[in-house]
Order: sequence, then structure tokens, then C-alpha cells
Amino acid sequence: MQDHFQHKAQNWDSGDIRVNGAKTIATAIEKEIPLSKDMEILDFGVGTGLLGFAIAPKVKQVYGVDTSAKMLEKLQEKNKPELHIKTYHQDIIKEPLVQQFDGLLSSMTLHHVEDLNAFFKTIYSNIKKDGFIAIADLESEDGSFHSDNTGVHHFGFDAQNLGEIVQKSGFKDIKIQNINTISKAHRDFGVFLLTAYKN
Ligand SMILES: C[S@@+](CC[C@H](N)C(=O)[O-])C[C@H]1O[C@@H](n2cnc3c(N)ncnc32)[C@H](O)[C@@H]1O
Repeated sequence: MQDHFQHKAQNWDSGDIRVNGAKTIATAIEKEIPLSKDMEILDFGVGTGLLGFAIAPKVKQVYGVDTSAKMLEKLQEKNKPELHIKTYHQDIIKEPLVQQFDGLLSSMTLHHVEDLNAFFKTIYSNIKKDGFIAIADLESEDGSFHSDNTGVHHFGFDAQNLGEIVQKSGFKDIKIQNINTISKAHRDFGVFLLTAYKN
């Protein structure tokens, strides 16, 4: 498994854009999805847990999956007995999880997924009936969001195209809304939240 985040993990949580961005995504998810203490939730591309730890107090258990051992190491340092994320270190498209979840969350990871059809088909089977997905990522951009595009397979997403892929995989009630603007020195970048259900 390639780990494009091994050198970024150490300082991941000191980036204001990342920390504040994950908070904004957590708030938008809570506004959109009624979370409850009986839910088991998967954070796809959990990284150091910026989104997962914000959601963990509202649900029974957050599980996190990531292909980066170094990002998961940083997450483990933040785990406490009273608030912890259980982790899987694997590529769930190549090696699917057998566990089913009440919902799946994801923050800024979808642009690292090469085959979107395979991804949404995989996660459809990991979501329980009536479960949800809530995925946040960049709106279409010009490739200048990252200073190095290694491991970046999509320069953001066009809502129409993405919605069609999600629908084709079987999810219903698909909604894609703008939830944030990330301002960098050279330009602004929109962030969307996609929500959908498995009926
Ligand atoms: C931009 S970081 C976001 C981390 C975290 N969600 C956050 O908001 O801080 C993307 C994360 O997705 C992980 N990742 C990339 N491709 C992945 C894949 N196919 N399966 C699981 N995780 C993946 C990376 O290792 C990295 O930790």
C-alpha cells in the first residue's frame, strides 16, 4: 500500500486550514444527519481523526480506515479509553471490510480515490439498510489546491457527475451542497458535503 501521507502525518494537526476545515465539516454533518448513541460509524480516510474525534461523542463507536500507517499512528496517540476510534489499516476497495455500519463519513479523502465507481459500490455493501453516507471534499478546482499532486486523482468534483456515480451505485436521496470556502493566497476553493441514503 502506498503511503503518500507518511511525511505529512507528523504535522498534520498543526495546519489551521485542516483543523478548522474538519470542524466545519463535522458541524455540517451534524446539521444534516441525526446522529445517535446507538450508531456505529466508519470514517473513510480517517487520517489523524480530525473529523472522527469530533463525531465520536455523538455516536456509539467511530471506526476509522486509512491506508497510511503514519496517519493512524498519530490517531492512536490521541485515543483515550473514554473517547477512542477503532482503526483498520487497509485499502477497503481491494480488501473490503465485512462489517456493516450505520453510516460513513469522509473528509477530504475522495480526491485520493482513483476508481469512484468501485469505491461507491464497495461502501454500498458496508452500509446497513437506512444507513447514510456523508462525504466532504473539494468542488472542481484547477489543480492548484495541493502544492504536490502526487496521489491526487481528481481536481475536485463536479456535483452533477459525482451525483450520477453515487446514484448508479444504489444510494438514494442524494444531496450535494456547498458548506465551506477555503481561502488560500492565490484563490478560494469550495468544499461540498454529499449526503445520501441506502433505502
Ligand atoms: C487529505 S487526508 C484527510 C484526513 C482526514 N480525513 C482529515 O480531514 O484530516 C486524506 C487521508 O486519506 C487517506 N487515504 C488516501 N487514499 C485512501 C484509500 N484508498 N483508503 C483509505 N484511506 C485513504 C490518506 O492516507 C490520508 O490519511
